[in-house]
Amino acid sequence: MIQRVVAGSSELDQTIEQIQEEALSAIADAKEMEQVNTLSVKYLGRKGVVTMYLRNVSSLPPEDRREAGRKGNQAKKAIEEGLKAAACRLSSKAEEKAGADAIDVTLPGRPAPAGSLHPITHITRRICDIFVKMGFDIAEGPEVEADYYNFEALNIPKNHPARDMQDTFYISENIVLRTHTSPIQVRIMERYAPPVRVVAPGKVYRCDSDLTHTPMFHQVEGLLVDEHISFGDLKGVLTALVHQLFDEHLSLRFRPSFFPFTEPSAEVDILCVMCRGKGCKVCSGTGWLEVLGCGMVHPAVFENLGYDTTRYGGFAFGMGVERLAMLKYGINDIRLFYENDARFLRQF
Ligand code: DAH
Repeated sequence: MIQRVVAGSSELDQTIEQIQEEALSAIADAKEMEQVNTLSVKYLGRKGVVTMYLRNVSSLPPEDRREAGRKGNQAKKAIEEGLKAAACRLSSKAEEKAGADAIDVTLPGRPAPAGSLHPITHITRRICDIFVKMGFDIAEGPEVEADYYNFEALNIPKNHPARDMQDTFYISENIVLRTHTSPIQVRIMERYAPPVRVVAPGKVYRCDSDLTHTPMFHQVEGLLVDEHISFGDLKGVLTALVHQLFDEHLSLRFRPSFFPFTEPSAEVDILCVMCRGKGCKVCSGTGWLEVLGCGMVHPAVFENLGYDTTRYGGFAFGMGVERLAMLKYGINDIRLFYENDARFLRQF
């Protein structure tokens, strides 16, 4: 019975060899320093299993003491060594981990990813800034618009052939997705007495899709109403726009055209920015690029809104932002603006 451990230990029936074996295998399995400490207390602490065994040796019959003491001390030593090795193993592992997580303060900082303005937003703001400097205010209007504002009040009655110029998305018989930003003119004149000077940027919608058309695109509308306004004022304002947006020597021309809400009406062409007038693919060999529509506000529009046509006159204009952006940046496919390819967008 000499190898049995004393009462009070849970390992009552184990031999000292079994205790040693069990202790060493638990120590080898330890994954945390805390487990090693717990095992140290369990086996070698003041009330530890091995400690109790050794304390009990003196109460054994004299002939057994020597052998029991030797085995007990051997177990104690083996367990001590096991604990030391485990502590060493776990602390070097912790150091390794700390090393991997450590911050190298000599590395260059990681750049914080910063967004940038979409090219359409950028050029819209640029256009508006140019007009703000000329004394214009900025206005907005709804994208889901009443037929009255989009057509009727702009001198485009139902069944007017001019409605075919714009492929309209109808929400219901009298509600549309606005096909241009011109209805904002009407909303402004409805609310404010002259003089007015506004530009109105925004999204517009037409049922159309190819290399140069998307069902949604952007326009900037302009309206100026005051006394003594002539076509010369219109030419001056739009010339200033083109010169500031492209370059100050770029030629432009006013070509007679038709819009129901202006009379006379014109389209503005700029000298082709690609070939400078020689004729190329972009300008279809004409040397000119159409960039916007404009004209003197039709008296019928003023009359619809109660403006005094004997006293006031005015001009209006409308331009497509994508078209201007494509010409300014040399982009040949409008859809690139809406594919959200960061490689494309980062260039602006
Ligand atoms: N609303 C026209 C369009 O979308 C553009 C336009 C032409 C606006 C002449 C005007 C204007 O204000 O006077 O095609």
